[in-house]
Amino acid sequence: MPINAPTVEATYLEMKRLLAHVVPDVELRYKAELVYEINRRKKERGAIILGHNYMEPALFYGVPDVVGDSLELSRKAAATQCDPIIFCGVRFMAETAKILNPTKTVLLPAKRAGCSLAESISVADVRELRQRFPGVPIVAYINTYADVKAEVDIICTSGNAAKVVRSLKANPVIFLPDEYLAKNVAQETGLKIIVASRGSGATLAANKSSPAMIGWNGRCEVHEKFSPEDVRNVRAQFPGVVVLAHPECSPEVTAVADFSGSTSRMVEYVRAAKAKHYLLLTECSMADNIAAENPDKEMVRLCSVRCPHMNEITLEDTLRALTHNEQVIDVPEPIRSQARRSIERMLAVG
Ligand code: 13P
Ligand code: SF4
Repeated sequence: MPINAPTVEATYLEMKRLLAHVVPDVELRYKAELVYEINRRKKERGAIILGHNYMEPALFYGVPDVVGDSLELSRKAAATQCDPIIFCGVRFMAETAKILNPTKTVLLPAKRAGCSLAESISVADVRELRQRFPGVPIVAYINTYADVKAEVDIICTSGNAAKVVRSLKANPVIFLPDEYLAKNVAQETGLKIIVASRGSGATLAANKSSPAMIGWNGRCEVHEKFSPEDVRNVRAQFPGVVVLAHPECSPEVTAVADFSGSTSRMVEYVRAAKAKHYLLLTECSMADNIAAENPDKEMVRLCSVRCPHMNEITLEDTLRALTHNEQVIDVPEPIRSQARRSIERMLAVG
């Protein structure tokens, strides 16, 4: 990775070798031209492409120098010497790259590429929570915008959320904005949780006797749609199926899954497992990427639920971003430095 073949034809043949069983040939032929051109211009410009695990298969296998989950991509973004950094992921991820590596140009191939979790909380909400719960440390999920990151004490990702909460050695802890991730972390760390919302007036008074986490009512518009009933139906149809749920799914769903972890931990789990069928309760493209790598295993896809934001990132737009320097991500001071402090605290935890 990426495909560094010398011609379009050689690029096509390599893509066919990797993807023939998940992408139709007609699409491979067309996309090979884009992949070839992106890699040629990337080399010419000394650029690096970072790709989230949710990118569609031709993009995922064709152009990124590094693929991974939010934590892995943040680490890479912080360390790279390449310029520009093209971030094939959503806006909050590209912002994180800019915060960590401010002298580099960071480009996001789509104009918007938002995230329902990042939209669910504002700086005003965080300030209001600080007033309502004075002195309580605030953890924010990486799926937040830079201004919110700048207001909180530490960031976490799906790969290290429980570790970050434990590292604070505090009680209570505010955890924003994903209600379900907070509930899953509360379960893992043995903390009782209350969920706050805009203007809800939730207080700790009723929870004084036991450790408490204070969550927020943000939801991922993809993962909130999966239900325990989906899992039961698939288990009935595919006996022996292994069910993997991202921790943005509800605790009722993660409770009936066989494994819950970040997108990269899900990839590793399937790689190591021996079963025939897998149900991935996460964005559908990832099942295609895993299927490409594991031709002997079958992915059961629930593809009616898609992330519209991740799906905004295409090969066409990646080429345009590289060619025309679009869309340049900027994070103004002092937000950048304050957000960097919160992210670096997380990176120090691991
Ligand atoms: P990961 O950090 O697990 O890749 O998750 C990012 C995300 O947005 C999942 O919906
Ligand atoms: Fe945000 Fe959910 Fe899309 Fe991930 S899948 S980027 S959490 S909306």
